[in-house]
Amino acid sequence: MTHLDNRRLEMLEKMGIDVWRLRDKPAQQNAAAVTELTDVADEPGGGRAQILPSPGQSPLTLDEIAAQINQCQKCPLHSTRIKAVPGAGNPDSDWMFVGEAPGQNEDQRGEPFVGRAGQLLDAMIAALQMQRSEVFIANVIKCRPPQNRDPYPREVAECEPYLHRQLELVRPKIIVALGRISAQALLKSSQSLGNLRGKVYRYGPSNTPLVITYHPAYLLRSPQQKAKSWQDLLLAKSVVSGQSLSE
Ligand code: URA
Repeated sequence: MTHLDNRRLEMLEKMGIDVWRLRDKPAQQNAAAVTELTDVADEPGGGRAQILPSPGQSPLTLDEIAAQINQCQKCPLHSTRIKAVPGAGNPDSDWMFVGEAPGQNEDQRGEPFVGRAGQLLDAMIAALQMQRSEVFIANVIKCRPPQNRDPYPREVAECEPYLHRQLELVRPKIIVALGRISAQALLKSSQSLGNLRGKVYRYGPSNTPLVITYHPAYLLRSPQQKAKSWQDLLLAKSVVSGQSLSE
């Protein structure tokens, strides 16, 4: 067994996962989990908002997008933020994880998922045999809402073109939406996370496949849901490897 295998087992155990059961049955579980492919971009407001830049301008880079986000004053959240959190990671990754919004730690550091939830996200990524530096991590909202309240629809709408542009540049094979707020914002849905998960959707101008899982902060409070979250990650992995029944 390699060092990587050991690390993976360690991470799965940390996630509360029965490693032997999962190692025996991933293909079957994936087949059962993939139920439908939904083109949410065709739903009302389904993520076809105009992206930056305007026609005729040369495309922005991820750094230029980040610079724009750092200076953004499109919504009132700019007046209460310490730092904007544009997102970070491998600009060529197959994987993009999208959380809700920065919390206090992220607001101070300008980086996504740096608190306890971030540590669990690292464990989830490690269970997929990757490191944080190999994926791209972003949020629906790039600035912290005061007292970590849920983002307002206007804030989501103002921020969405940044995410679209990041997607266009990174071109991931899968987006993993972390948590109810992220899932509802991306899918323009008011359904519960329990109803939304277990399917492959399409998101944004690039029609990127999207799966939904629990937010790591929720998993810290409800560790019994980690097994379901692992199923979601396996579904995402099957999309990346081209083995999803939906692809
Ligand atoms: N929760 C999120 O949704 N995003 C972060 O960046 C941190 C915590």
